[in-house]
Amino acid sequence: MSARKLQMGIYVLMMFMGMLYVCNAFTPTDNYLIDCGSPSNTVVGRRTFMADTSISWTLTTKTDSMANTSSSSVSSFSTPSLYQTARIFTDPSSYSFSIKQQGRHFIRLYFFPFSSPNFKLTTANFTVSTQDSVLLQSYPAGSASTPLFREYLLNITRSTLILSFVPLSNNSLAFINAIEVVSVPDNLIGDTARIVNPIGNYEGLSDEPLQTVYRINMGGPLVNPDNDTLWRTWQPDQSFLLDKNLAQFVSFSGKINYLDGNSTEEIAPDVVYSTATELASSMNRTSDARFNVTWQFDVDPGSSYFVRMHFCDIVSKALFELYFDVYISSYMAVSDLDLSTTTVNVLAAACYMDFVVDMADGSRKLNISIGPSSLENVLPDGILNGLEIMKINSTGTATVVSPPGSKANVGVIVGAVLGALAGVAIAVCIICTMLRRRRRMGRKQNTKAWLPFSINGTVSQSMGSRFSNGTTATLGNVIGYQFSFAVLQEATNNFDEGWVIGVGGFGKVYKGVLRDETKVAVKRGNPKSQQGLNEFRTEIELLSRLRHRHLVSLIGTAVKGSFGYLDPEYFRRQQLTEKSDVYSFGVVLLEVLCARPVIDPTLPREMVNLAEWAIKFQRRGELDRIVDPRITGTIKPDSLRKFGETVEKCLADCGVDRPAMGDVLWNLEYVLQLQEVESGYTDVNSINWIDELPSQVQNISNSENVAVDEHDPRLNDLSDVSMSRVFSQLVKSEGR
Ligand SMILES: *[C@@H]1O[C@H](CO)[C@@H](O)[C@H](O)[C@H]1NC(C)=O
Ligand SMILES: *[C@@H]1O[C@H](CO)[C@@H](O)[C@H](O)[C@H]1NC(C)=O
Ligand SMILES: *[C@@H]1O[C@H](CO)[C@@H](O)[C@H](O)[C@H]1NC(C)=O
Ligand SMILES: *[C@@H]1O[C@H](CO)[C@@H](O)[C@H](O)[C@H]1NC(C)=O
Ligand SMILES: *[C@@H]1O[C@H](CO)[C@@H](O)[C@H](O)[C@H]1NC(C)=O
Ligand SMILES: *[C@@H]1O[C@H](CO)[C@@H](O)[C@H](O)[C@H]1NC(C)=O
Ligand SMILES: *[C@@H]1O[C@H](CO)[C@@H](O)[C@H](O)[C@H]1NC(C)=O
Ligand SMILES: *[C@@H]1O[C@H](CO)[C@@H](O)[C@H](O)[C@H]1NC(C)=O
Ligand SMILES: *[C@@H]1O[C@H](CO)[C@@H](O)[C@H](O)[C@H]1NC(C)=O
Ligand SMILES: *[C@@H]1O[C@H](CO)[C@@H](O)[C@H](O)[C@H]1NC(C)=O
Repeated sequence: MSARKLQMGIYVLMMFMGMLYVCNAFTPTDNYLIDCGSPSNTVVGRRTFMADTSISWTLTTKTDSMANTSSSSVSSFSTPSLYQTARIFTDPSSYSFSIKQQGRHFIRLYFFPFSSPNFKLTTANFTVSTQDSVLLQSYPAGSASTPLFREYLLNITRSTLILSFVPLSNNSLAFINAIEVVSVPDNLIGDTARIVNPIGNYEGLSDEPLQTVYRINMGGPLVNPDNDTLWRTWQPDQSFLLDKNLAQFVSFSGKINYLDGNSTEEIAPDVVYSTATELASSMNRTSDARFNVTWQFDVDPGSSYFVRMHFCDIVSKALFELYFDVYISSYMAVSDLDLSTTTVNVLAAACYMDFVVDMADGSRKLNISIGPSSLENVLPDGILNGLEIMKINSTGTATVVSPPGSKANVGVIVGAVLGALAGVAIAVCIICTMLRRRRRMGRKQNTKAWLPFSINGTVSQSMGSRFSNGTTATLGNVIGYQFSFAVLQEATNNFDEGWVIGVGGFGKVYKGVLRDETKVAVKRGNPKSQQGLNEFRTEIELLSRLRHRHLVSLIGTAVKGSFGYLDPEYFRRQQLTEKSDVYSFGVVLLEVLCARPVIDPTLPREMVNLAEWAIKFQRRGELDRIVDPRITGTIKPDSLRKFGETVEKCLADCGVDRPAMGDVLWNLEYVLQLQEVESGYTDVNSINWIDELPSQVQNISNSENVAVDEHDPRLNDLSDVSMSRVFSQLVKSEGR
């Protein structure tokens, strides 16, 4: 085996080890965690709440007020660090978040009304709302200093979520200590649930806003967010039992089974299904003591509640031994429930049932009971593993405080800018069909390796694509192969139209044969293509079909430097997201600043990759040392600092830690303002400074023959004036 083939083999192995590694854990597409009013990030368990100064969201407020407390009472709270600081609003204000994946999101709000020298939070009186629902009608002001935690589960069908805080009277203020906005799996809450009185079905749940009021782990311990698959908190049930003596707590150390079509680890984690509260009569298998076990919850009269019960038969030694009744508010919800049948004859299988209860009778207590079945020859028994109660609906009128320029179409701008400036080069992907190597690799492994490749709605890609001529680059150890343009020309018979095997939104795919007879598919980026999401998806589908039939791998690229732009997460996940664009854009910003190509193999090893090299200087606060000498004298330190921070955030290792593109753009505008204000330059001068940046790029990219169309129709989509101002400056200069 030649060294080259060996290397290829190793690379393929690395690829599918990466694929298998792709976390089982759910990764939320939208994941905003904010420690409001805090100047620095706060680590809570395994999550990091970002400082309130981060650029990942837009804060719209007239006054920039923050407060903190050192009160010792905070230390007794479950997440003390989040309650120590607060953002204060004396006027209607809002946080807005860009939503990548529409659907259900948890919105979690943390409040603690402490007193600080300047603000008395105990006098606060305010509403919190989204564009569509009122979350908090009137903050329960004046109450003693106790923390308030609220969790909502909203189906967000907009691309921007605006969380508005509105003080209710003249002297009043609003505040917030911490915020979470996190997407959840689509199947978490379905559209229908059962109604027990009268018996029927409730339809249309997927549009309803829900507010969590109780989430209980029966017979088990407190489950904190770190131990839950969706960072939920589950409380123990003891304090809700009407009569503890009738109940016993059981736990199970075996494996919980998740069957297709019912519960999943995201719906409730193992730790919830592994414990249960059981009728104590089961201890006396011979006794005929018949009684119910009842949990009682405080609810608002007149409201409707979504009730989810989690069951898992962890008590039976054999199938068909456990039958029991379930009641909601004294109404029969399920009679003679037989978990063996509902879980298709598997013990310790997780399942759940959804109900909607209307407290129309004016009752302030909701009873949930389990009791013995009335079937003959069945011993009294019954279990419940978990329970969730969520209030449906919100009332009142939402007041929305819109951020400036909230309509901008960021995706389009990104596409245009990247296309123009960078000539980002995913131009050619080589797909090796490796048929010849099959025998050596073992078929089973091959199939397994590529199965996890999936297409989903979140894949988006808007990078431009360009060719450079015959240039090769050393791509380092990230990837084993690069091909010169000439090699690809030869392999595809000079991109013979007769050799085209597919066309996607991103360009044509040619069949080809390398000199060592490896069959390849070569995808040639089409510089004119608009790369709409649909086209791109079509192409990924094409690729995935190829992957199905053979062992197909993406093994390299030609075009200078393309890997320097590519999101490092792409290698782990095989998925490009909008956050991949943010990464690439961060690299472009560095390129602009330092006026050097992203990969330069002629430089010493530690300098080859611009992103890695520059980020080291940024972290040490020495970014100024590597700025292009031609502009270094004109950049104001504050402006450069903000620029560097922005780049660093764009280049975060994990996509979730990178800011949204819109926020990057706003920050760049801020960079521009810092430059203008402090320099005392006229407007023209400061615009010139911005002009200067792309000209550096132009110098670099001239060799790559990058063309920019000033009249690109995509640019017409810029609906926000100020944003387009910045970017028209960036984009236009090359057209001049
Ligand atoms: C707390 O607030 C004071 C001013 O009220 C400020 O000087 C101090 O830096 C703040 N501390 C933190 C940790 O935010
Ligand atoms: C909060 O403001 C509303 C509207 O101004 C008012 O009706 C209500 O009494 C206030 N609540 C408190 C506790 O001051
Ligand atoms: C707020 O103040 C203005 C003038 O100071 C007054 O006219 C208005 O009635 C006040 N509103 C409330 C709700 O107190
Ligand atoms: C969210 O609402 C939209 C519009 O009603 C609906 O099509 C979608 O299925 C809902 N998503 C979820 C997860 O419920
Ligand atoms: C929760 O996680 C912590 C570590 O994060 C662990 O020590 C603890 O045992 C876990 N609790 C449960 C109930 O799993
Ligand atoms: C179990 O049965 C015995 C006698 O049959 C009785 O004394 C005891 O109270 C029963 N225990 C429970 C929990 O029902
Ligand atoms: C709940 O259970 C208690 C005790 O059994 C009972 O007194 C009460 O009437 C029940 N409430 C409802 C609404 O069923
Ligand atoms: C359990 O509660 C339901 C509803 O309140 C009632 O109809 C039933 O008789 C109770 N069963 C026992 C054994 O007490
Ligand atoms: C899960 O299983 C329970 C019990 O059979 C059933 O009532 C429920 O509808 C199932 N849920 C789903 C989503 O299939
Ligand atoms: C939710 O609120 C709307 C408007 O107030 C009302 O029409 C609807 O019936 C409510 N839904 C539930 C389940 O209470």
